[in-house]
Amino acid sequence: MRAFTLAALFAAACLSVTAAAVTAAPAQGTNPAADVDGARIAHPAAGEWLDNGRSYFEQRFSPLKQINTANVKDLGVAWEYRTYSTRALEGSPVVVGGVMYVTAAWSKVWALDAKTGKEIWAYDPQVPGAWGRYACCDVPNRGVAVWKGAVYVGTLDGRLVKLDAANGKPVWDINTIDRKRAYTITGAPRIVDGLVVIGNGGSEFDARGYISAYHADTGKLAWRFYTVPGDPRKKPENPAMAAAMKTWSPASRWWKMGGGGSPWESMSYDPALDLLYVGTGNGAPWDRNDRSPGGGDNLYLSSILAIHAKTGQLAWYYQTTPGDTWDFDSTSHMILADLTIDGRLRHVLIQAPKNGFFYVLDRATGKLISAKPFAVMNWATGIDPKTGKPIENPGARYKDKVTVVMPQETGGHNWQPMAFSPETGLVYIPAMDGAAIFAPSEKFVWKPRAWNTGNDFAAVSKAVMAAIQSGKPPPPSTGYIKAWDPVAQKEVWHQQLGGNWNGGLLATAGGLVFGGGADGIFAAYNAKTGEKLWSIDLKTGILAPPVSYAVDGQQYIALLAGWGGAGGLASLKDPTTAVVRTGTNQGRLFVFKLGGKQQVAALQPEGNPNVEPPPQTADAATIAKGFDAFHRNCTVCHGFFAESDGVLPDLRTVPPEIWSQYDNIVLGGALADGGMASFKDLLKKDDVTAIRAYVLDRAHALWDAKKHPQKAAK
Ligand code: HEC
Repeated sequence: MRAFTLAALFAAACLSVTAAAVTAAPAQGTNPAADVDGARIAHPAAGEWLDNGRSYFEQRFSPLKQINTANVKDLGVAWEYRTYSTRALEGSPVVVGGVMYVTAAWSKVWALDAKTGKEIWAYDPQVPGAWGRYACCDVPNRGVAVWKGAVYVGTLDGRLVKLDAANGKPVWDINTIDRKRAYTITGAPRIVDGLVVIGNGGSEFDARGYISAYHADTGKLAWRFYTVPGDPRKKPENPAMAAAMKTWSPASRWWKMGGGGSPWESMSYDPALDLLYVGTGNGAPWDRNDRSPGGGDNLYLSSILAIHAKTGQLAWYYQTTPGDTWDFDSTSHMILADLTIDGRLRHVLIQAPKNGFFYVLDRATGKLISAKPFAVMNWATGIDPKTGKPIENPGARYKDKVTVVMPQETGGHNWQPMAFSPETGLVYIPAMDGAAIFAPSEKFVWKPRAWNTGNDFAAVSKAVMAAIQSGKPPPPSTGYIKAWDPVAQKEVWHQQLGGNWNGGLLATAGGLVFGGGADGIFAAYNAKTGEKLWSIDLKTGILAPPVSYAVDGQQYIALLAGWGGAGGLASLKDPTTAVVRTGTNQGRLFVFKLGGKQQVAALQPEGNPNVEPPPQTADAATIAKGFDAFHRNCTVCHGFFAESDGVLPDLRTVPPEIWSQYDNIVLGGALADGGMASFKDLLKKDDVTAIRAYVLDRAHALWDAKKHPQKAAK
């Protein structure tokens, strides 16, 4: 065995003695989370899943092997639970002592009996629907943390809430953000030494990223680490900020715009080093010319940070994309593992961020061990082993011209977690290939709480249309599961999936890798060879990673299905996705066991009325103005060319009364509670009239195509 981890070996050794004690079904009124502490999160019993990635090492490897390569064909649904949501489900359930704590869209939390699916309690933090406009990429939540009898959740509107694990009642509920800025929380908290650590998102808008640690018992702030420097006229918060300041150009006054670097997703922790690892996001604005004219690395954007967990001081950093300008967050999942490399046992940190390189770092020092491309790329040719910096292709920085960049802005790999099997020594990556078009805004105007990327989505869509018309459309996007050898830095096998934007992964000691995709298919693969051994059509698109646990001697696999996110909302209608195929995106939690049901019923489609849109009265100039305003304000949720993929209402096929309600909805906020905020701070009545005219133009094109399909196909 070339690669192994101490945590996994320890957990395997504990299996026989502790499994019975901790995996029995919960007794009424008990609190099985009562004695969860750092020692247990470091070494969960085999049947448990105690942290977002199972343990502090975040390997997403379950030592259970009742379900294995020989019998996985008999896997089926044990129970399912509806979340009554139609937005992205991205959570990993946490399972302790037979109770599952799971989160869904709008930061809602449930405690369920992990054996039967019976609801124990439900908690709704009442996130205001209008806050959805401050979220770049849907309204998901990726899970809870548990600690000494309590469950902790971050809410989309920037709160951190402590719940009593026994009954779901809030113990405290604190604000973690500057509420005048577009901050959001979608990531799961982690708990280290009694401190609850939580980050935030907002780097498409106006955020200055930071990570905060709160005392788990009182909710008092213990420390906060900003990921980018603030106003240079003020004293820097710490030596790390003083050092970072030198890598930014003050000409643009980035500190007014935010700067970005939001640590919105990944963390891992090494108890032996007492280092907390945090991945940071892209710059705000995206385009470095708008953010730091003249250049600079812009620390600590797109970086892996190692922070002393007790004090919040920086130990080391590794910047994967210096001077990021392509939305290359380094927030993808970070796995800690112990690998034998060149005959030496190395304690490593592994990340495959959006920029398409697979990194292996020494996790004590942050020194690069190796880095190789795992996705198709044209922005760089490799990583300089001496400096650890990418060797950029001239021309990749788009300056003032429309530029095609690979990987796409959703990345060669995004937040969807990877998995590492200490048994095969392989890392399984939900990888993507695709191209992004960057079109810098002619004159960038920064606006508070608005999309401030510096990339003009109206110009992007015109470039896409021109490319299609000239017969050279952008290369198709593809999605894969890639099995990667982190020692040899090479692919061992891959499986191409139906769509591009797919789910996270799980590896198990049963020799299996599990994962689902946009097409709603959930499958198990042979971890060594990639052979597909089992699959089921869940009829709902999948983004979330599966987890595994055991109760009363039975192994289960749990998975949330509910599509959306960045790659769901803004993508064009794709008939292979489950949401387009079935006409519904109702969220469900599925739990599988051997001998379960092999068929899943489809849910009732949400459905659109098939009625003719009202007549068009606007002129071509108004429609053209509407094209620009639509792509700059609405595309991120309602899709390019108003062609929604079905997660949100397709604006071309709305009920007749909606057409007369545009001002009420878009300016008046009539549907704010449902997630459609008012845009009155950004748009005037004429803009809305023009947007309606453009959408109506698209509605007529669709209606005509339905009436005359042969003509439209030409
Ligand atoms: C942050 C995401 C987001 C953005 C950006 C957004 N919307 Fe919406 N929109 C929604 C959601 C969510 C709904 C569904 C609300 C509901 O069901 O109550 C919606 C619904 C609507 C509806 C009603 C559709 C129906 O069938 O009921 C209209 C019209 C609409 N949006 C127009 C726009 C326009 C025009 C823009 C750009 C100015 C825009 N939206 C931008 C999220 C968004």
